[in-house]
Amino acid sequence: MSQPAPLHVVTGALGYTGRSLTEQLLARGVRVRTLTNSPDRPNSFGDRIEVHLLAFDDPGRLEQSLRGAAVLYNTYWVRFNHRRFTFASAVRHTMRLFDAARAAGVERVVHVSILHASEADDLAYYRGKHQLEEALKSTGLSHAIVRPGVLFGRFDVLINNIAWVLRRFPVFGVFGDGSYTLRPLHVDDMAALMIDHAHRAGNTEADAVGPERFTYRELVAAIRDILELRRRIVPVPPLVGWVIGRCIGPLVRDVVITREEIAGLMRSLLDSNEPAGRPDAVDGLGSRERRRPGMPLRERSRPPSPACRVV
Ligand SMILES: NC(=O)c1ccc[n+]([C@@H]2O[C@H](COP(=O)([O-])OP(=O)(O)OC[C@H]3O[C@@H](n4cnc5c(N)ncnc54)[C@H](OP(=O)(O)O)[C@@H]3O)[C@@H](O)[C@H]2O)c1
Repeated sequence: MSQPAPLHVVTGALGYTGRSLTEQLLARGVRVRTLTNSPDRPNSFGDRIEVHLLAFDDPGRLEQSLRGAAVLYNTYWVRFNHRRFTFASAVRHTMRLFDAARAAGVERVVHVSILHASEADDLAYYRGKHQLEEALKSTGLSHAIVRPGVLFGRFDVLINNIAWVLRRFPVFGVFGDGSYTLRPLHVDDMAALMIDHAHRAGNTEADAVGPERFTYRELVAAIRDILELRRRIVPVPPLVGWVIGRCIGPLVRDVVITREEIAGLMRSLLDSNEPAGRPDAVDGLGSRERRRPGMPLRERSRPPSPACRVV
């Protein structure tokens, strides 16, 4: 008799990383349940996934939604403080999620953190991520912590916003001298890395970085070249860059970049010396298939950004 498909729970399957992850899990024959804050959001997966409310204020319901899960993948987080949500509330909520996972007997938790989470407690984003890593380690749950710096592909924020500005303005301002470095990882490679870590034994940690290292200035120049544009790249004081980003925000209907994100970028916190994060991909039932190393940004972005949300 065939085994029933394992159940994997994904917070935010209709979000950015969660969507890519869910596609890969479904392709591997895994049963996917998402826990979401936005159950009425358009669901391109239809009835291929189960949708449950991320019921942070109802521990019993949260636990029930996690019962029977072999793996919980947690992508839930907030990008900035707002009158309706804060880093502090996201930390509290995530701790409740970990408690519910333990109570429900979830076999493994794959938690998405951020590169260098423990090295920038002066920034609230990083401090919250650091607290959550420590909290997860103290739960006794079998876990993996996966730490991206910046993800690209499809509807990413940073690369799309750089492309948007390059398309519309004759000059692009980089924060400061633009010499700080970063290693973007494609979102599909991130998803594959998470699945890989779901199937590893013991508690694991991984920096989720791509095969290429860019200075920020080089990254902007690479996107400009992919788009076949002629634009000057000039240094601007970080505060001025942030104010310009604030002005562009309403046009792209997004928060383009926050001051904490600029600080992290300029401290090269989006860089790491770890090997590129392209794992041996693992199918839902545990067999291994060798995959090639992480895809470079230039290759993944050609032809010029057809997937750009803002054109
Ligand atoms: N994207 C990157 O370049 C990047 C870089 C470094 C680290 N990370 C980390 O990777 C993880 C996933 O990032 P992502 O870009 O894929 O995030 P995302 O899709 O924008 O958000 C992940 C989930 O968090 C929930 N969420 C986001 N903002 C929320 C808010 N204001 N209130 C309530 N819920 C909210 C959403 O849940 P619902 O869909 O259920 O509403 C969403 O699905 C996060 O932990 C992030 O810190 C991402």
